Amino acid sequence: MDHDFVDKTVLITGAAGDIGRSLCQRFLALQANVYQTDIRETAAPNFTSGDVSDPDFVKAWINGILSQTDRIDVLLNVAGICPRTPLANVEAEEWDQVLRVNLRSTFLLSQMAIASMITQKSGAIVNFASLAGQVGGIAVGAHYSASKAAIGALTKSLARTGAPHGVRVNAVAPGIIDTSMTTDAGPEKVNQLIQSIPMARLGGIDEVVQPIVFLASSQASYITGTTLDINGGIYMN
Ligand SMILES: NC(=O)c1ccc[n+]([C@@H]2O[C@H](COP(=O)([O-])OP(=O)(O)OC[C@H]3O[C@@H](n4cnc5c(N)ncnc54)[C@H](O)[C@@H]3O)[C@@H](O)[C@H]2O)c1
Repeated sequence: MDHDFVDKTVLITGAAGDIGRSLCQRFLALQANVYQTDIRETAAPNFTSGDVSDPDFVKAWINGILSQTDRIDVLLNVAGICPRTPLANVEAEEWDQVLRVNLRSTFLLSQMAIASMITQKSGAIVNFASLAGQVGGIAVGAHYSASKAAIGALTKSLARTGAPHGVRVNAVAPGIIDTSMTTDAGPEKVNQLIQSIPMARLGGIDEVVQPIVFLASSQASYITGTTLDINGGIYMN
């Protein structure tokens, strides 16, 4: 598995975030040719800042990479936003914004990447669902839950399209991971959440990164359309 990614073109969104940053580091260590993007600026190599929910940006970013490499081997759709707005206060514009960033971006990026992967007859996409999409938001908004539930269905549709052409598409559904997205809820809420986890602890970032490396690798060559739960037993599918 460790040699799978040498000189491979790996695209990672949400690259300035807690999980995205670790994924970039891991794939760079595996000698991949990593292209990173985020709406926030970073000084990382091969980094382009932009809004992944904007179709024009997505087109320009992917076409720019293809003009250099001619192929996309792996796409990791990590970017996401997680407002905790109570149900009664979610305005239509905020609803649309969450769906645009979490769901539409995954569609737009995957639509372009899969076309290239189908031509080259190989490739892997890993999308980000969430525990919140399976059980409803515990400490997050209804719009976040809905967007993440839809990622599972989108992943299956993309997987069906890619399967005859050697392209695999899977998702991960992290539970409560030790990132700022979780700790932003405050220590009291985090302690309460931990008590509901059978493993009685938060998940580590590396415990999310490692399964993603597996899903993107040839070790997972017969796995497509699945959503892998990474949640310490809090929800068993
Ligand atoms: N942290 C958790 O406990 C947890 C649990 C389940 C799922 N997830 C999912 O994992 C993924 C990564 O989460 P994280 O914890 O690293 O969060 P994070 O907030 O640290 O990272 C998300 C990144 O996405 C970027 N982003 C937001 N809107 C964007 C846009 N319009 N265009 C481009 N980039 C944009 C942000 O700038 C940020 O760097 C997200 O999809 C999240 O929903 C996280």
